[in-house]
Amino acid sequence: MTPPTALVTGASRGLGAALTEALNRRGWRLVVDGRDPDRLAAGVAALPRPDLVTAVPGDVADPAHRAALAAAVGDRLDLLVNNASELGPTPLPRLAALPPAALERVLAVNTVAPLALLQAVLPALERSGGVVLDISSDAAVEAYEGWGGYGASKAALDQLTAVLAAEHPGLRVYAVDPGDMATDMHRAADPDATGLPEPAAVVPALLRLADEALPSGRYRAADLAVPAEAGR
Ligand SMILES: NC(=O)c1ccc[n+]([C@@H]2O[C@H](COP(=O)([O-])OP(=O)(O)OC[C@H]3O[C@@H](n4cnc5c(N)ncnc54)[C@H](OP(=O)(O)O)[C@@H]3O)[C@@H](O)[C@H]2O)c1
Repeated sequence: MTPPTALVTGASRGLGAALTEALNRRGWRLVVDGRDPDRLAAGVAALPRPDLVTAVPGDVADPAHRAALAAAVGDRLDLLVNNASELGPTPLPRLAALPPAALERVLAVNTVAPLALLQAVLPALERSGGVVLDISSDAAVEAYEGWGGYGASKAALDQLTAVLAAEHPGLRVYAVDPGDMATDMHRAADPDATGLPEPAAVVPALLRLADEALPSGRYRAADLAVPAEAGR
C-alpha cells in the first residue's frame, strides 16, 4: 500500500524537524524544504527512514521553488504543513521603526507563500481529501510590542486559513498556534529560552489534527494536548 504523503516546509530545524521525524517514524512519504541545503540534507540523513524523504532546498517565497515542491509531491498529498516562517529584523523593532521592505519580506514568507504553496498542491490535496496545517502564533491575536510585523503576517495567515476552510469543505484546514518553544526562532527574539518546551512536545497536538476528524478552524496546541501530557 502507498504510504501517505506530507509536505512540510521549514523541516531542517525546530518544529518542522520534530514533526518530520514523527511522520518519518510512522512510515509517511515526505517532501521537505529549508533554505540551507546542507542543514536540510544533514537533517534528512539523521532520520530513521531517509529513503522516504525528498529534500528540495529553497526559499518558500520563490515561485520556482514552490513549483519544484509541488512537482516532488506528485498526484496525491495527504498533509500540507506551512511551517517555514521568518521573524523579520531582530532585535524586534517597534512598528514605528519597522522598515516597510522588512514587513514585505515577512508577509511574503509567512502569509503569501503558504497560500501560493497551497494553490500549487491543491489538486493533489483534493484527490486525498487532505489536511492543511498553517502554523500560526499567539502573536496573531495578542498585541506584543515589537511583534507587529510578524504578528500581522500570522493574523493574515489565520484569516486565509479560515476562508480556505469555508471554500474547501472537502479538506480539513487548520491554523494552529504551537505555543512558545525552545527553537532558534524564539532565541532570535529572546535569547533566554529557559523553561520553554522543546518542539517535539508540540508534535502530538499537531498529529491529532492530522489524524482526527476535528472541524476545520484555529486551534492552540495547548488545548490539543493528549490526556497523559495534560495530566488528566
Ligand atoms: N518557536 C516559537 O516559540 C514559536 C511560537 C509560536 C509560533 N511559532 C511558529 O512555529 C513555526 C516553526 O517555528 P520554529 O520556532 O521551529 O522556527 P525555526 O527554529 O526558526 O525554524 C524555521 C525552519 O524554517 C526554515 N525556513 C525559514 N525561512 C524559510 C524560507 N523562507 N523558506 C524555506 N524555509 C525556511 C528554516 O531553515 P532555513 O533557515 O535553512 O531556511 C528552519 O528549518 C513557525 O511558523 C513559527 O512562526 C514558533
